Amino acid sequence: MEEKIKELLGKMTLEEKVGQMNQYNGFWDVTGPPPKVGNPKVKYEHLQKGWVGSVLNVAGHENVREFQKMAVEGSRLGIPLLFGMDVIHGHKTLTPIPLAEAASWDLQAIEKSARVAAIEASARGINWTFAPMVDISRDARWGRVMEGAGEDPYLGALVGAARVRGFQGKDLAAEDTIAACAKHFAGYGFAEAGRDYNTVDIGTSTLYNIVFPPFKSAIDRGVKTVMNAFNLLDGVPATGNEFLQRDILKDKWGFQGFIVSDWASLAEMTVHGFARDLKNAAQLAVNAGSDMDMESSAYITYLCELVREGKVTENTIDDAVRRILRVKYELGLFDDPYRYCNAGREEKLIYHPDHKKAALDIAKKSIVLLKNKNHLLPLDKNQPKIGVIGPLAGDKNSPLGSWRLGSDDNTAVSLLEGLKEYTHEIRYAKGADLVVGKASFIEEVEVNTTGKSGFKEAIELAKASEVVIMVLGEHGFQSGEGRSRTRLGLPGVQQALLEEVYQVNQNIILVLMNGRPLTLTWADEHIPAILETWHLGTQSGHAIAQVLFGDHTPGGKLPMTFPRDVGQVPIYYNHYNTGRPTPEQEVFWSHYIDESNQPLYPFGYGLSYTTFAYSDLTIDDTEDTLVVSIWVTNTGERAGEEVAQLYIRDRVASIARPVKELKGFHKFMLMPGESKKVEFSLERDELGFYNLQGDYIVEPGLFDVWIGTNSQEGLQGSFELKEERVKEMWSK
Ligand code: NOJ
Repeated sequence: MEEKIKELLGKMTLEEKVGQMNQYNGFWDVTGPPPKVGNPKVKYEHLQKGWVGSVLNVAGHENVREFQKMAVEGSRLGIPLLFGMDVIHGHKTLTPIPLAEAASWDLQAIEKSARVAAIEASARGINWTFAPMVDISRDARWGRVMEGAGEDPYLGALVGAARVRGFQGKDLAAEDTIAACAKHFAGYGFAEAGRDYNTVDIGTSTLYNIVFPPFKSAIDRGVKTVMNAFNLLDGVPATGNEFLQRDILKDKWGFQGFIVSDWASLAEMTVHGFARDLKNAAQLAVNAGSDMDMESSAYITYLCELVREGKVTENTIDDAVRRILRVKYELGLFDDPYRYCNAGREEKLIYHPDHKKAALDIAKKSIVLLKNKNHLLPLDKNQPKIGVIGPLAGDKNSPLGSWRLGSDDNTAVSLLEGLKEYTHEIRYAKGADLVVGKASFIEEVEVNTTGKSGFKEAIELAKASEVVIMVLGEHGFQSGEGRSRTRLGLPGVQQALLEEVYQVNQNIILVLMNGRPLTLTWADEHIPAILETWHLGTQSGHAIAQVLFGDHTPGGKLPMTFPRDVGQVPIYYNHYNTGRPTPEQEVFWSHYIDESNQPLYPFGYGLSYTTFAYSDLTIDDTEDTLVVSIWVTNTGERAGEEVAQLYIRDRVASIARPVKELKGFHKFMLMPGESKKVEFSLERDELGFYNLQGDYIVEPGLFDVWIGTNSQEGLQGSFELKEERVKEMWSK
């Protein structure tokens, strides 16, 4: 391959090389502000000159074939295009939003979900997805938390790698695998105040220990591309950031794939006040290591000139082009540029029953039971008089979630439809509209904040019901890109609806649909049963109904802390200790005067229809690998799955370490009364961290260790990592 690339590079003119570094949007769907330089006629001409390396947002085997033909048959060297798209949680068949999937803590199911996405996307001509988003975020105000795996770098690294495996498969040249893209490098999830695209200003330790690990894990798993980001990091835009792209990604981590910019992020460097103009932006970005320009037209317009002026070397260009061509080779596009344009595959594979099955499986696993007082759930299958209330119960669109470019509207099984599989004894009242008009990916969602005309009917229904299922939350398009919120309660009049219904019937099961943690403090105090169902995708209604009626016992665990109040944000489990964590100093301790420090539901939290008891924590420190084990018993009356989680704390270190860090988890099923010994093996080099120079170090000393059902509960032990052990480890 390297030989062939060399040969091809030798034949390319500078313009053709730069062309490979140019990516255009496919002239209709936009996933960012519409470009100013975007005359389709010009773009078509560029395609035929070989001045385009990739297009995004073109899908369907016929469309893709048409574009590919222009590039391959129209241009001098016939280099095939890459077809990129945001295939985030499925293409046509939609699996749960990524945050929900992370709640499954089931890496195989997550990999399978990405596999299904790749099969369907590749059947429609796409060979490159802009996923997984591996940005860690601690801020539920940021709408894009729905697209990631939550707040923890350890879980995030494993989930990211599972998604890369699922998309890229074992052989990238196979017709059903696509190139993945770890994004957004780096720090984007730390946008100040949770406002999308905002400045990022984080410390070195956070960058190395929290932000980088999921990217490193994706690189180690062979992810073919990385996307940079819109944000400034320490005053330097990620797109023009040499430290991030060259020093870390390409040099230190040895990344061989290519880096694509985010949508118009080159042009935006001028707005940031970092680049003088678009030409300067092109120079800064390419020299910093950004290989492909998405929708700024900066490279295609200025790079040749910049090379001629000696501001960019041809070596820099060659390196970028080599990286891009490599991915094209690996995808098999040089053998057959139409590999992913097969009418038969599209017809056969879109909405394939196996995909629905996989989507249903992971949808069930993504559900988190937050509260279940007096075993209100699961419902008896003969339960009479069920009233269903809430704007989202009958919705077939919202549960598909945000970021679903390829999908068809209204293709989710609504909860009402799911419930009908069990009983026809259901009555429904909408209660209120959640949004006014039609919500869409490219428009602001307008929320109904006053319309209560449906309340009366809902209250009458509640009075006449034995059990009320209230289906409330966020519309699918209230989270995602550009959907930051300052308030995290139930949007619109839904909280009022909940409280008014509660006045007449307290037997409420609250089914939540949302794309981010919400503040549910009132609900937690009053409502007996609460089920977090996120946005579960195509099979949503079936998955929720099966959980409500007990055909599936919920076992999901929160990948992100749920605050009691938005004022606590950012709130996350792996925080540092302050010097004054407890109230011993009268008023002078780290606290709020109007709210507790505690979250409403901590990271890793989730109940089951059964209960689990943890006992006998043992630590075996004698061998090379540290083994920590515990017994877990199912003490309830149903079979259920539990996720046992191991956390550590390095008590004293040269850089203070967090109060807890997840270092392992096991998910397993236990029958009623059954006990199991769960063993965690920890290599001693897993006990280290990155210092402020970015070196990974392991320091001897005392460690605490917990194993438990979430990040706040667990049995605790401690061990000492002896100096000799550390020396021995490094000498090996
Ligand atoms: C902007 C988003 O930030 C990025 O994640 C996405 O892949 C591109 N638009 C392309 O749609």
